[in-house]
Amino acid sequence: MAEKIYIFDTTLRDGEQSAGVAFTPKEKLEIAKQLERIGVDVIEAGFPISSPGDMAAVKTISKEVRGTSICALARAVPADIDAAWEGICEAADPRIHVFINTSAIQIEHQLRMDPATVLDQAVSMVRYATKFTSNVEFSPMDATRTDPQFLYSIIEACINAGATTINVPDSVGYAIPEEFGTYFRDIFKNVSNIHRARVSVHAHNDLGLCSANTLSAIQNGVRQAEVTVNGIGERAGNTSLEEVAMAIRTRKDFLNYYTDINHKEIYRTSKLIETCSGMPIQWNKAIVGKNSFRHGSGMHWDEMSHQDETRGRIDPEAIGVPQGAQIIISKLSGRQAFRDKVAYLGFELTDEELERAFDAVQALSDKKANIDDRDIEAILIDQMRDLENPAWTLDHIQVSAGNNTTATATLTLRDPTGAIVKDAATGTGPIDAVYQAMNRITGIVPTLTEFSIKAITEGIDAQGEVTIRIEDEKGNMFIGRASETDIIVASARAYTKALNRLIYSTRPSRYPVVNADGP
Ligand code: KIV
Ligand code: ZN
Repeated sequence: MAEKIYIFDTTLRDGEQSAGVAFTPKEKLEIAKQLERIGVDVIEAGFPISSPGDMAAVKTISKEVRGTSICALARAVPADIDAAWEGICEAADPRIHVFINTSAIQIEHQLRMDPATVLDQAVSMVRYATKFTSNVEFSPMDATRTDPQFLYSIIEACINAGATTINVPDSVGYAIPEEFGTYFRDIFKNVSNIHRARVSVHAHNDLGLCSANTLSAIQNGVRQAEVTVNGIGERAGNTSLEEVAMAIRTRKDFLNYYTDINHKEIYRTSKLIETCSGMPIQWNKAIVGKNSFRHGSGMHWDEMSHQDETRGRIDPEAIGVPQGAQIIISKLSGRQAFRDKVAYLGFELTDEELERAFDAVQALSDKKANIDDRDIEAILIDQMRDLENPAWTLDHIQVSAGNNTTATATLTLRDPTGAIVKDAATGTGPIDAVYQAMNRITGIVPTLTEFSIKAITEGIDAQGEVTIRIEDEKGNMFIGRASETDIIVASARAYTKALNRLIYSTRPSRYPVVNADGP
């Protein structure tokens, strides 16, 4: 009989550690609800000690997302575990995830401890976590570069201390599939009490092997896979949810497992993460990349729909790619059609938010003949961000530019109190002039590290989507994104959003120091 593989999603924790990604609180809740809808077993909602913002988001998710286990990350120190519990204590099924570095190199350079002390600390902190909940996961960080005998001892001791899930991370993305399989077989052979815990795998994609490594681990006894949507995550990312779920489903002839993932929600979930993270999905990304359903000659996927899955083709409908029956939104569409479209795209809006979004779509339909889902998604994402008490808002913008003239921008912004502030500046081009004027008005002069414009849809009336990244003096990065038919206005709005994120940033650091001697 097929065995269940538990899906532990860490998009909101490890996924958010991708350089440049910072979900807003509202996006985090939206994502958590979608993860619940898609059927993950555990949501790692955050790392509460890392910032007040993370703590607040974990608390909200714990209260509002009741159909799945909610997990919070903690280093093996009491303050982290207390914070993790504070974040998840109201969850329907809370889990504390305790980790400590176990490879010699990390013990020496990051923890500056000896292995025996690391083992004692892991055991006492797992035991400490069990005072709050019996649902405790332990991760020996950098497990694949850890001395195997030490790894077996620390796993065995942590199970005795009460850990019910043992997660084995390939933290630096170093493993090779066959070797990784053997590695798990050895864990099962050498840890005498391993049958008392569920064994989990957490892989990183530095060598492009993490889905293969995860499947190899599963074939060698692992029953929980740690994943992120679209594979976003630290450095080259984490194992992608959709790849593991669809590999298990598509190759059930060979892999005798199943997951509870509702594969019809994959496309929608992937799109939500793409828009919220600002990380575009590569065109040839397995399962969800837009070329996944195109064939060599450029023929579109739906022209191939007469083929069936038994021949290895992944049916686009199987992952919920919208087909002909989609609702068309135009100037003539009513509110109900729009409401249905919004629900279909995976957003939950209040009546007031829906009304604002509806007005924005109507305004767009005056400028653009064909409105498609990408236009609507862009507006909804914009609105989600706009509604979160922006510090500065753009009121008016006027630009003059051309050849043989100095680009000049005159801007009016509203400050956090609602007061109007006006200034003008020149620049090397119209967008530079706008950004110089914004810097003068806000008094903030960040470094612009990335600027990109893409057309959301085809055609000369397309909305231009501007994505920018700015850095503050400490090197923290903030993304701003906006779409408009006028790219100068989109550029100004994207910059305002990034500045607001910088102003509202509550993140001192991802891994704050708890005490000088601790990890
Ligand atoms: O990659 C890693 O080791 C982690 C741990 C915190 C599980 O993300
Ligand atoms: Zn990780």
